[in-house]
Amino acid sequence: MELEIVSVDVLDEEQKKGIWELLKAYDREFIPPLSARNSAFKKIPSGILELNEEGPVVYFNEILNYKFVLALLDRKIVGFMSYIPDHVVDVEGYESFVAEYASTAIVTPECRGHGAMQRFYQAIIDENPGKNVATRTWSGNAAHLHVLEKHGFELYATLKDDRGPGIDTVYYIRRGNK
Ligand SMILES: CC(C)(COP(=O)(O)OP(=O)(O)OC[C@H]1O[C@@H](n2cnc3c(N)ncnc32)[C@H](O)[C@@H]1OP(=O)(O)O)[C@@H](O)C(=O)NCCC(=O)NCCS
Repeated sequence: MELEIVSVDVLDEEQKKGIWELLKAYDREFIPPLSARNSAFKKIPSGILELNEEGPVVYFNEILNYKFVLALLDRKIVGFMSYIPDHVVDVEGYESFVAEYASTAIVTPECRGHGAMQRFYQAIIDENPGKNVATRTWSGNAAHLHVLEKHGFELYATLKDDRGPGIDTVYYIRRGNK
């Protein structure tokens, strides 16, 4: 599969539409769904979740301001990673640090397993020499955790049961001085 990986600082209207379609289609693969969240980096909501029927509108409007790495197949967006440049990662109980903070990644099911996510991270690492790269995910996200370990990320913080019983929020960092 010939995926093209492209970095974009500001999305055009067509690209915004492509990102929205991915967010809306795969919203519920996230724990919790993106349509229940009001931010890509603040505290994960807990308790009884209210899902926005229109989809992850709040989340979408926030990440539009971030930088993107896109995966294209025949010029159509089939995946993306968004990241916040020079973000202060502040986890309660841990020392804060500045990093290129990967907020969100989605690849369509047909295109998974072809290295898109690994190339997203590689693009961020290559374009930001010397800088930390960080992200967070949930503890059962085996594909994401596999990619993080492969790319030299280390577990930084664990928020136990943050996403429900037995589902932790885990923060990972790849230090820029490696
Ligand atoms: C997570 C996601 C973005 C990965 O995208 P992808 O393009 O398929 O990722 P890649 O192909 O670059 O790498 C996936 C790696 O994980 C491995 N993998 C896949 N499923 C796995 C599993 N259940 N357990 C362990 N490893 C797994 C693959 O074998 C591959 O590793 P390899 O290249 O060493 O063989 C995609 O699965 C997705 O969109 N998931 C739904 C949304 C999501 O979870 N986003 C991230 C939330 S923070």
